[in-house]
Amino acid sequence: MIWILLPFALTFCVCGTFVVKVAQTSYQAEENDNITLEWTFTTKNDSSSSSLNIICCLLTVIKYSILYHVHEGVEVPESQDGQFAGRVQVDKDVLREGRIRLHVSRLRTDDSGLCVCDVLTDDGSSSDRCRLNVTAVDQPEPQKSAARSQAESRGRIGLYVGLGLAVCVGLGLAVYVGLIVGLAVCVGLYFLFRLYSKQDETENTISEV
Ligand SMILES: *[C@@H]1O[C@H](CO)[C@@H](O)[C@H](O)[C@H]1NC(C)=O
Ligand SMILES: *[C@@H]1O[C@H](CO)[C@@H](O)[C@H](O)[C@H]1NC(C)=O
Ligand SMILES: *[C@@H]1O[C@H](CO)[C@@H](O)[C@H](O)[C@H]1NC(C)=O
Repeated sequence: MIWILLPFALTFCVCGTFVVKVAQTSYQAEENDNITLEWTFTTKNDSSSSSLNIICCLLTVIKYSILYHVHEGVEVPESQDGQFAGRVQVDKDVLREGRIRLHVSRLRTDDSGLCVCDVLTDDGSSSDRCRLNVTAVDQPEPQKSAARSQAESRGRIGLYVGLGLAVCVGLGLAVYVGLIVGLAVCVGLYFLFRLYSKQDETENTISEV
């Protein structure tokens, strides 16, 4: 850790003419986007590559994770934080020209933070940083509306079923009430009929008598 932080300490006395410069100070991206972060540093034709040391890392409030590490001209993939495993590619051809190009793919929201590249060579050390802001993407609109329309259709089906049930129950009740009323009327008529026929009988017998 001390070894890692040492270059940062040296950075504060930007000694001599050695300078690291970030290409863009702020990046705005969405989840799963790919992005290319770029820094340039001063090189001399005679500098041997074995004196090149690079540490690029991501700083957030809660952690410090290494994206890319070169130690005395040799890449140290083991230093890379698991968060970036398989997601960072470096343009080695332009590295010799003093350009650090990091292609970061499938961005995650927790990649948000301060990206710092610190370079240490025989000529001095320097660093520069950029801010990376990765925002979450909402669920795709079609899925959302599909879900909504599904819910709506489910609601509509429920409504229809409810209405159907109500109609059935209503009809059933109507039929039932109708039957009862019909029955009552029938019974009533029957008794009336019997009453009248009895009266007729008595009238008949009276008249016969
Ligand atoms: C991002 O990069 C990966 C490979 O690194 C590639 O498969 C993918 O298609 C790229 N996505 C976009 C949106 O460019
Ligand atoms: C570095 O080399 C290039 C050719 O490879 C040459 O044009 C340039 O002048 C050289 N620079 C220095 C500072 O020697
Ligand atoms: C990141 O981007 C979002 C959306 O554009 C914005 O609301 C937020 O303030 C940004 N955060 C930072 C730290 O820049």
